[in-house]
Amino acid sequence: MTLRIDKLAKRYGEATVFADVTLEVAAGEFVAIVGESGVGKSTLLNCMAGLDRWDAGRVTHDGTDIGALDAEACAIWRRSHVGFVFQAFHVLPHLDVAQNVALPLMLLGQRDDARVARMLDVVGLAGLGARLPQQLSGGQLQRVAIARALVHRPALLLADEPTGNLDPTTATKVMDVLLAQTREHGASLVLVTHSEAAAARADRVLHLRADGIAA
Ligand SMILES: Nc1ncnc2c1ncn2[C@@H]1O[C@H](COP(=O)(O)OP(=O)(O)OP(=O)(O)O)[C@@H](O)[C@H]1O
Ligand SMILES: [Mg+2]
Repeated sequence: MTLRIDKLAKRYGEATVFADVTLEVAAGEFVAIVGESGVGKSTLLNCMAGLDRWDAGRVTHDGTDIGALDAEACAIWRRSHVGFVFQAFHVLPHLDVAQNVALPLMLLGQRDDARVARMLDVVGLAGLGARLPQQLSGGQLQRVAIARALVHRPALLLADEPTGNLDPTTATKVMDVLLAQTREHGASLVLVTHSEAAAARADRVLHLRADGIAA
């Protein structure tokens, strides 16, 4: 899938968050986005997934104009095509770990317990499937969020600081998993990070500023 962002602008009232953001991410490509706190990185990722609205410009995925979809069509599109690792995890507290990871499959009407178990294994959480989120550490929760974003093999992977709570060894393992989905299955990976180690593995590193995005 090719993600194309064209002259995107986002404002809150009179305050511009960013303007004139143009970028393209090809299938199998890994683009890292860096920038100061508050510059709009999370907002930009949300716009890429159609989770937030923008004030000017276009977001398209393989020709699908995301801004032209109504809320329901956008949710359906997102379910099949997007894996999102939120900065604040958004793990559901009343579901156990395995149910949280299985959620994207469930929303697609699929069930694959073996794949859920494999994903938990891949992120180093084998055997913790029956735990509730409150019984996990911050870094373990982050890995639940990563397993959930990958379980349905999305073509577009959007990850907001996915290694922020992880020790260097676990962070490397998590990056390996995200990159495997990108390189082996041709997903497009957009990753917001403050980690130099994570950005160093990207094909391109782009700096977001109020007046645009550039290398
Ligand atoms: N509802 C809102 N109303 C007004 N301003 C908002 C609103 N939501 C976010 N903002 C502002 O939009 C800007 C972008 O926020 P965003 O969360 O995208 O930043 P970020 O680059 O992800 O920061 P961080 O690195 O701290 O996660 C911030 O300056 C924030 O204060
Ligand atoms: Mg953010």
